[in-house]
Amino acid sequence: MDRIRIVGGNPLVGTIPISGAKNAALPLMIASLLTREVLTLENVPRLADVNLLMRILGNHGVDYRIEGKRTGDGPYAGQTMHLDASDIVDTTAPYDLVSRMRASFWVVAPLVARMGRAKVSLPGGCAIGTRPVDLLLMVLEKLGAQIEIESGYVIAEAPKGLRGAEITFPKVTVGGTHTALMSAVLANGHTVVHNAAREPEVRDLADCLVKMGAKIKGAGTSTLEIEGVGSLHGARHAVLPDRIEAGTYAMAVAMTGGDLLLQGATAAILPGALEILAQTGAEISSTSEGLRIRRNGSGIMPVDVTTEPYPGFPTDLQAQFMALMTRAKGTSRITETIFENRFMHVQELARLGAHIRLEDDTAIVDGVARLKGAPVMATDLRASVSLVIAALAAEGETLVHRVYHLDRGFERLEQKLEACGAEIERVSDAG
Ligand code: EPZ
Repeated sequence: MDRIRIVGGNPLVGTIPISGAKNAALPLMIASLLTREVLTLENVPRLADVNLLMRILGNHGVDYRIEGKRTGDGPYAGQTMHLDASDIVDTTAPYDLVSRMRASFWVVAPLVARMGRAKVSLPGGCAIGTRPVDLLLMVLEKLGAQIEIESGYVIAEAPKGLRGAEITFPKVTVGGTHTALMSAVLANGHTVVHNAAREPEVRDLADCLVKMGAKIKGAGTSTLEIEGVGSLHGARHAVLPDRIEAGTYAMAVAMTGGDLLLQGATAAILPGALEILAQTGAEISSTSEGLRIRRNGSGIMPVDVTTEPYPGFPTDLQAQFMALMTRAKGTSRITETIFENRFMHVQELARLGAHIRLEDDTAIVDGVARLKGAPVMATDLRASVSLVIAALAAEGETLVHRVYHLDRGFERLEQKLEACGAEIERVSDAG
């Protein structure tokens, strides 16, 4: 199994191209199930989760083609993917595929909306919390689907089609909002969604659906209005830049010091996190090419953070921010309100010398003068990258195990960091 070896201490200086967002690409690819025509997605990141979803969609009968490189494409140019779901041959998403990636459960919505039936394995728990799907099922039931749960599978049926309804989410859910969008666009009549997620990835999905012929108002706000249409058509859409990847590298340079241009990133997609980062002492400016983040030799100021739905501070940057706070000049409190168990990185950061204690949903981080390299391992994607960030600022060598977590969501992480001065390499057991 591969590991990543990092020798810390170098500032990060240079340009990092930001890839297309994983969490936008996945629902966009799933949206291809809604039409018989070809959906073309540009700027799709090269990630293990994208490859796995292609397999899952392939199982339903979706043909896909990835365009070859074009003259002038840089090494980090995103992929252009053509998805053709003209012939859906199977409406079942089996356990062995769905259990490997929770977002694949979202196929339930377009399958019921277009085919009138879906049988999808329950995704089960995962390392960051219990993550139920009750609100996704609530959406389908409101829209008139009959839901049964049998032997670990959700069977959703609406043989006469879905019908518009009023949906109020008791809490903000990204997956629930994706489900509402992808089912209501083909429902008969009008749907109103209250307390919808406002994440940029939800807006990206809505924008793409509109290009496919859907009628959606209010994308990016907490109230969505959808007028169902009889069918959707093909479209071409570019995946938006990955705000979590951008935020991760921003935390990294805030920690190591240096000067990074995050090419393609915009301040608009990272409102909560950039404000906090500025309070820690990082200098942030927008250029025509992207976001520039700098920190000179001055110390890192401690800042308290609470994760919230967009536009608040994202849970997907909580672990990375905690890494930064381990070197702050004082104590910070980091409260996680989205997922109850998203502190698995705490004990690993402690292996690098961090002082962190947990009180319920809050981590109290006492900044230390130095971290020291060690072997570490993580249990989820964002936790893994927090260890990489900490290792970049630690003295000596760190080996990060279970690299497959990183490959799920960070495109060419080592190459991007190495190009900016980091001493980082992937080592395989054979090597
Ligand atoms: C999406 O997960 C993201 N995944 C997550 O990113 C992200 O952390 C999360 O949104 C929050 O921003 C993708 O986009 C693929 P939710 P999702 O439904 O949609 C509860 C990463 O690292 N809830 O917004 O699954 C849930 O338990 C991943 O890239 C219910 O109670 O998250 C949580 O407490 C990890 N019932 C809260 O809502 C439900 O039916 C928000 O979850 C659904 C959710």
